[in-house]
Amino acid sequence: MNEIIGKFAREGILIEDNAYFRLKEMDDPATASSEIIVKIKKNGGGKFTLLTSEMLDDLFELTEEIDNPAEIKARGPINVPREREFDFRVITDTSKRSYTSGEIGDMISYFNSRFSCLRDLLKRRPELKSHVPIADLRGGDDAVSIIGIINEIRTTKNNHRMLELEDDTGEITVVVHNENHKLFEKSEKLVRDEVIGVQGAKKGRFVVASEIFHPGVPRIQEKEMDFSVAFISDVHIGSQTFLEDAFTKFVKWINGDFGTEDQMNIAADIKYLVVAGDIVDGIGIYPGQEKELIIRDINEQYEEAARLFGEIRDDIKIVMIPGNHDASRIAEPQPAIPEEYAKPLYSLKNVEFLSNPSMVSLDGIKTLIYHGRSFDDMAMSVNGLSHERSDLIMEELLEKRHLAPIYGERTPLASEIEDHLVIDDVPHILHTGHVHINAYKKYKGIHLINSGTFQSQTEFQKIYNIVPTCGQVPVLNRGVMKLLEFN
Ligand SMILES: [Fe+2]
Ligand SMILES: [Fe+2]
Repeated sequence: MNEIIGKFAREGILIEDNAYFRLKEMDDPATASSEIIVKIKKNGGGKFTLLTSEMLDDLFELTEEIDNPAEIKARGPINVPREREFDFRVITDTSKRSYTSGEIGDMISYFNSRFSCLRDLLKRRPELKSHVPIADLRGGDDAVSIIGIINEIRTTKNNHRMLELEDDTGEITVVVHNENHKLFEKSEKLVRDEVIGVQGAKKGRFVVASEIFHPGVPRIQEKEMDFSVAFISDVHIGSQTFLEDAFTKFVKWINGDFGTEDQMNIAADIKYLVVAGDIVDGIGIYPGQEKELIIRDINEQYEEAARLFGEIRDDIKIVMIPGNHDASRIAEPQPAIPEEYAKPLYSLKNVEFLSNPSMVSLDGIKTLIYHGRSFDDMAMSVNGLSHERSDLIMEELLEKRHLAPIYGERTPLASEIEDHLVIDDVPHILHTGHVHINAYKKYKGIHLINSGTFQSQTEFQKIYNIVPTCGQVPVLNRGVMKLLEFN
């Protein structure tokens, strides 16, 4: 089958002869086809759509609207002070910590670290002040409280939930009765390896739970911002599906060369650009990936990244962490993108390279940056959580005070002496990526932001029916969320 027709057919879109001939005559039919597919999907089309020549006109009108040279103004951003004062601080970055060998002894200290940090947070709750070590539990006690790590979650044939809870003294089975509807519902969001508090009654070998507690987050005092921050992730430079045009438009906008007056005013106010991983597509990330690459060398991918990011005006500080496609080690916490692979990128003076996760202070705004690999595990383990609603996953992770609670599934976690994925400090902003779908929510005063992608739908995403949000950039404009489109 012809390549263009095949591309549309795989999406369930039939292409009319006239539309096909017009597409074939274009400068870059492959990119144009990908963009059209994304637009059709975005407009709710897909299976059994017939792409006509008229539709092509409509779709290109949308593109031309953005390309319209009347909107592209002369370079020279308005109101941008030439010399900017940055109050930028790194709060946590695991890149330079020494790493362990992954021995079993490290596993014990890793889980001890997780348990003791989260127990300290749980202990602050009045209901858990008098918690007892599991080994000290006595039968027939009507009011006990314990803190432990969940080793296993089971559902009995009578549909009650059983939690195997462990602390540093012993193990106990906690029963959540299904008649206790509210608690049973709450227990559906529990995951293996998270640390919780339980209030209940000791009955024989079990503790029958009357309440379950997460470490939780308090409502935070929102801080005023007199500047703006743009958030991006999952650029996937080097992939055939990287949307270079959209990225270039984004760069033009941030430089003050493109957009409406309002949009240009926002651009002029941008002080920081945060990039939450998957800067490049990488090499050998999944079987058969090389067929989807346009740049098949990791150094060259970062060279291209340096060219593209190098276009950004240098009075914007760029904060960059790796994702699972970058050349960092795969186990989290991932150290910063290594300089040996990304020399040209390191030569840009306005880029800060940090670990995944890391926490920074952007002029006093505490920003926790995490790529989001654990969202795969959360979406698979918890009913009601999905890639589309990563804001709900972020909310859960904040309550659990851990960025990747489930150990040993799809998210490789390094068993360090310390567990660096515990959220010990509550941020003003939590910025993530990985799922390629934008999400935003303000939760207890915290901005939860997922920044989508600059990559059109991949073969892998087609299989799982994941429809990405491409070229849509969330901007925190003096504390107000705005989504800018660069398609
Ligand atoms: Fe990605
Ligand atoms: Fe990713």
